[in-house]
Amino acid sequence: MREIAVVVGAGGREHALADGLSRYGAEVWVAPGNGGMVQDVKLLPADSPGAIIQQFPDQHPLVIIGPEAPLAAGWADTLREAGFRVVGPSKKAAELESQKRVAKSVMTRYRIPTAEARITFRPEELHQWIHAEADWPHVMKQSGLAQGKGVRVVYTREEALATLREWTERPHIWREGVLWEEYLEGFEVSVQVVTNGRDYAWFPVAQDYKRLTPDPESPNTGGMGAVAPLRILDATVVEAINERILDPVMQYLTDEHLTYRGVLYAGLMITSDGPYVLEFNVRLGDPETQVIIPIVPVNWMDFWLALSEGVVPQIPPAQGAAVGIVVAASGYPDQPKTGLSFTLGEDLDQTRIFHAASQMREGRWENTGGRVLTVVGLGNTIGEARERAYERVRRIQFPLSYYRPDIGARWS
Ligand code: AMP
Ligand code: GLY
Repeated sequence: MREIAVVVGAGGREHALADGLSRYGAEVWVAPGNGGMVQDVKLLPADSPGAIIQQFPDQHPLVIIGPEAPLAAGWADTLREAGFRVVGPSKKAAELESQKRVAKSVMTRYRIPTAEARITFRPEELHQWIHAEADWPHVMKQSGLAQGKGVRVVYTREEALATLREWTERPHIWREGVLWEEYLEGFEVSVQVVTNGRDYAWFPVAQDYKRLTPDPESPNTGGMGAVAPLRILDATVVEAINERILDPVMQYLTDEHLTYRGVLYAGLMITSDGPYVLEFNVRLGDPETQVIIPIVPVNWMDFWLALSEGVVPQIPPAQGAAVGIVVAASGYPDQPKTGLSFTLGEDLDQTRIFHAASQMREGRWENTGGRVLTVVGLGNTIGEARERAYERVRRIQFPLSYYRPDIGARWS
């Protein structure tokens, strides 16, 4: 009988995870998935772990939880208790991502290098801090989950006050708190490890393009593209990341007896003073996953099964390189247009298209959200992968869409 795997989530990351599993013969379900995936997988409409339990009352298949929201809501605990083999940390461990103030306090206690920050629950207090601040730019961060949109780098006092005015009108932000954080200079990398809470193994290092356009002051998004593997960290930096960041997190998980069988993602700023943590995520990144899955030569079914059982699988070196380009609908990230028609065009060897927000309607593709596709090119080098990715993107006919022209350019 074919092994069954259920991927929880609906985006490009989940399509890539499902694609990896299908290539090794698994029967893959995505819950809830999106209409763009239906050729490859079965969709399971599920807005609770109960729906998965109901669908598979006896089989207890492997479940991989992609996004942060179900992890923060404790799906991993519920499914594990029901006997499923789960990739994803417990609800308590997921606070490393779902509450930035918890992450900050862990980092302070374990002396993990991170930007200095103060937290407040009152707009008036932040108003005072903004007025008293002499150091610009500065960073404003919502403590709670905000789909990658709760962080603003503010370059001037006026900008900070404008953001404060906008956030003041949203009381839920203040229930979780807002961080006023020191700005760090350097380059960003996404370090992702699989871990059982004690041991860990690195995925190839990736880089995410978070800004909407190549302009470094353009708005933050959920991610407009990604590249891997990035071989730019020298041995000293890797050692610093292990010893000053990852080992202390393992110590924290051990000290608190937290169950962690999943991926830990450290968003790092590599500064002249070494690596600093910008954020922890308790899952794979999106769009990083779309460039990692195709280049890591493992049997993904065996890989995730081992992890679900607490065994950290070995990760062989990357085979080639991948560049992923996000195709977004006009208006993204604030108010993306939906219901726009597009065609995918002719296929191209060594490319993949992962759907994040699309569906077939009356024989035509249309988009259902802002980030619609991740188009991935593969190659021996980042340069080769990049050429294929852009060639494939150019074959897509999608009026009123946008993609960044510079993904991977620096590394080719
Ligand atoms: P986060 O969600 O915390 O990773 O923040 C989103 C993005 O904002 C990061 O990827 C950085 O580009 C930027 N950012 C966050 N914190 C800082 C910081 N302290 N200094 C400079 N840039 C930051
Ligand atoms: N690419 C960043 C994230 O998934 O949060």
